[in-house]
Amino acid sequence: MLDNAITLLLLLSTLVASSLATTARVLIYSATADFRHDSIPTAIQALQSKQSSFGIQFENTEDKAQFTDQILAQYDALLFLDNTGEVLDDSGKAAFQKYLNLGGNYIGIHAASDCLRNTTFYGNEVGAFFDYHPALQNATVDVIDASHPSTSMLPAQWHVQDEMYNFKTDPRAIGATVILSANESSYVDTGTHLGQGTPHPTGNSSNLVPAAQLNENILLAWFQEHGAGVEDNGSSGRSFYTSLGHLNETWQDELFLAHVFGGITWTLQSNTTLAFNASAQVGNPVASTSNSTSSSSTSMLPTPSSSPSAMISCPSIDKFSVKFMIVSVIVAACFPWLLRL
Ligand SMILES: *[C@@H]1O[C@H](CO)[C@@H](O)[C@H](O)[C@H]1NC(C)=O
Ligand SMILES: *[C@@H]1O[C@H](CO)[C@@H](O)[C@H](O)[C@H]1NC(C)=O
Ligand SMILES: *[C@@H]1O[C@H](CO)[C@@H](O)[C@H](O)[C@H]1NC(C)=O
Ligand SMILES: *[C@@H]1O[C@H](CO)[C@@H](O)[C@H](O)[C@H]1NC(C)=O
Ligand SMILES: *[C@@H]1O[C@H](CO)[C@@H](O)[C@H](O)[C@H]1NC(C)=O
Ligand SMILES: *[C@@H]1O[C@H](CO)[C@@H](O)[C@H](O)[C@H]1NC(C)=O
Ligand SMILES: *[C@@H]1O[C@H](CO)[C@@H](O)[C@H](O)[C@H]1NC(C)=O
Ligand SMILES: *[C@@H]1O[C@H](CO)[C@@H](O)[C@H](O)[C@H]1NC(C)=O
Ligand SMILES: *[C@@H]1O[C@H](CO)[C@@H](O)[C@H](O)[C@H]1NC(C)=O
Repeated sequence: MLDNAITLLLLLSTLVASSLATTARVLIYSATADFRHDSIPTAIQALQSKQSSFGIQFENTEDKAQFTDQILAQYDALLFLDNTGEVLDDSGKAAFQKYLNLGGNYIGIHAASDCLRNTTFYGNEVGAFFDYHPALQNATVDVIDASHPSTSMLPAQWHVQDEMYNFKTDPRAIGATVILSANESSYVDTGTHLGQGTPHPTGNSSNLVPAAQLNENILLAWFQEHGAGVEDNGSSGRSFYTSLGHLNETWQDELFLAHVFGGITWTLQSNTTLAFNASAQVGNPVASTSNSTSSSSTSMLPTPSSSPSAMISCPSIDKFSVKFMIVSVIVAACFPWLLRL
């Protein structure tokens, strides 16, 4: 009976361990130094409300002091949400650069292209810096690449109420693949486009969208297989950016959330972080420890950690695993016949 219970516990522990191995940790950074979007709390809540169905654990901060080598190394991706202005100091930027060099992933949403404007590596990692936007209004978004996980669920012509961003440069010039663009005749923009040329955007013609779509060239979302913010000697993770997401209502729209989560999960599958690669150098440390501890049942118990992971509490996983074991002991005690099956 006791042997059977231990076997059951071991089995359950292994199940817990394998689920831990795919829990990706993502840090949402929403610090602002200039304009502040009042939809930031709505966005964070929307992301966190769906985290478990995507095997993601979000933590959020606006504290630039969290940008140290040790702390960033715990995360499978950094998600920049609506940041404006100078939101990191020099040591934070250095830690961020190092994180990217070690295979860390980046996700940028909406105004994330409007921060750290003098920081070249950041501009490369997000893909392009924000230029300006016309007034918030209804517009039609064209899906340029429907094969990407962030766009596969969208209608070919997606009607949104949002800000149609213009950018300083063409993200395709640094290797990004554009997945969404704006139908310019579906909304009013009386501003002067800077930097993207005429017809804009200009860029390496071999990377441009088909000629038939050249009049739909306000680029709204893109991805980079290898984020261009990495230094030459680094091992690059992925980068995903979407310029949509201005309103609270947007963050309550399931279709928009599917777009965002498609981008996040695609980014994490770079396989350059610990949630998906046991020999990676950054990412969820809980996932990595499960690699070396599968032979002993006691090692699955939560232990006080002396590793850097103790700096940021990670209670939900440990509590989950303890609860799992308590429930399994109760089940084993109350329904011993289960063990004889
Ligand atoms: C958006 O939601 C936040 C609360 O999450 C609220 O403070 C803010 O006023 C809302 N904005 C608008 C325009 O309703
Ligand atoms: C960025 O560069 C511009 C032009 O060189 C300068 O005017 C501005 O003060 C710089 N901003 C920061 C935050 O360093
Ligand atoms: C704009 O779109 C929203 C929904 O996205 C809709 O409720 C609203 O009626 C539209 N406004 C106009 C002027 O078409
Ligand atoms: C672009 O928008 C205009 C005006 O709403 C519409 O007539 C046209 O069909 C749209 N084209 C595409 C390709 O979505
Ligand atoms: C354009 O891009 C292609 C493929 O990315 C590259 O081989 C070529 O050298 C680029 N041309 C210019 C002029 O940058
Ligand atoms: C990578 O290159 C940067 C400069 O581009 C340099 O500062 C850094 O020391 C290099 N790192 C390694 C591990 O060589
Ligand atoms: C990451 O690993 C998954 C599962 O093995 C695989 O399907 C995917 O293609 C990999 N992605 C990359 C970029 O190698
Ligand atoms: C994971 O475990 C395998 C087999 O025990 C081992 O070869 C590998 O080095 C381990 N990887 C890490 C990152 O500990
Ligand atoms: C896993 O991480 C190691 C160490 O950073 C790296 O060499 C390897 O290429 C990664 N695997 C994938 C599929 O990216």
